[in-house]
Amino acid sequence: MHLDLTPAQLDIKTRAAQFAAEHVRPVAAQRDNTDLFPSDELKQLADMGFMGVNVSSQFGGLEAGVVAYSTAITEVGAADASVGVTMSVNNMVCEVLEQFGTEHQKKTFIPRITQGEYGGGSFCLSEPGSGSDAAGMLTRADFQDDHWIIHGTKSWITTGAHAGVFLVWAKAFHPDHEDGPITAFVVDPATPGISVGKAEEKMGQHGSNTVTLNFDHVKVPADSVLGHIGKGFRIAMMALDGGRIGVASLAVGIAREAIQQAATIINTTPALSQDATVVSKIGELYQELQAAQQMVFHAATLKEKKVARFTREASMAKVFATETASTITEELVALLGPMGVLKDTSLERLVRDARVTRIYEGTSEIQRVVIARDLLKELA
Ligand code: CAA
Repeated sequence: MHLDLTPAQLDIKTRAAQFAAEHVRPVAAQRDNTDLFPSDELKQLADMGFMGVNVSSQFGGLEAGVVAYSTAITEVGAADASVGVTMSVNNMVCEVLEQFGTEHQKKTFIPRITQGEYGGGSFCLSEPGSGSDAAGMLTRADFQDDHWIIHGTKSWITTGAHAGVFLVWAKAFHPDHEDGPITAFVVDPATPGISVGKAEEKMGQHGSNTVTLNFDHVKVPADSVLGHIGKGFRIAMMALDGGRIGVASLAVGIAREAIQQAATIINTTPALSQDATVVSKIGELYQELQAAQQMVFHAATLKEKKVARFTREASMAKVFATETASTITEELVALLGPMGVLKDTSLERLVRDARVTRIYEGTSEIQRVVIARDLLKELA
């Protein structure tokens, strides 16, 4: 695959690929069976700077940009999507903290993730009754004297049991904001009143940690607001624009891994390599993978250049890459029959892992809504 990368981007990609080959891929199947959280791997990746690829060096990042970040996620995600998604969410949390946080928030919380002190940070937006409709949240934060009281429940929170920081969205009720506008808060997970539910058992990405978080009248300081009161929804959407590039990069990795696995089988099985239908299907799927890769790089480049809002391109990359990863993994299983289903290869895991990417950080249906709204506004 031709990647027009700079030497610095290529260096990140190569280092990520080497680490993935040595430390992530060999235990991916075992992790899928045991659901073990990849604490050691995440710590090592943090030591390499990979929890803040697009974050300033003063906070422990690499300052390597969004394209480099995308390649790193693809390499690690190809080896194990569980590690890839955790790394992706961690980078998103660090970036949003750097963009909107106070100096105190940045200095306190970003290094917890970039230096690998914790497994990561959590993006606490979804709730039992509001996943796609993020604005429908019920969690509230009431301002009392000199602090906030946060009360509510957050669902499907990635890395929630291992986080060194929670970004929590709530409707904030303050004497100057009596309508309770959506506001983001930076919360220390050790704060009394927070409880972590059991790890969810998911169809795929078993090594990533997904939990419910309950905030029972959690008292946090007045200066816990991220950005400004009432700017939370916009902050969440901007963060997700970047996060969706991460998920799309991960999906490209899953799809590429599936084609690699299939190629190994086909190349060593004459009945398959001499079958024109099989060979033609590989060509078709590879072409789709390339298209997904180009869309991901396009969105990453726009974000990196900071030229404009890249919402539409990030959503297009997310929906196309994740749907393509599902198509590729499922079609390869269909193509290879019994060999695709057996756990001797990773294909059946990759099918399950790919399916999950179509849900988190906004479902495919939501991405299409985001794309269409943006387009219709432009064409109005
Ligand atoms: N950048 C900046 N501002 C944005 C924005 C963006 N990308 N998207 C929306 N906004 C602004 C709008 O301009 C608007 O501003 P004004 O009020 O000033 O006009 C405001 O935000 C409200 O926008 P909408 O009217 O579009 O809001 P909505 O309620 O209709 O949003 C939605 C609809 C796009 C579907 C949104 O709810 C959404 O993205 N839902 C999906 C949520 C999601 O992705 N959740 C993932 C959970 S996190 C996760 O999965 C992480 C993990 O752990 C793996």
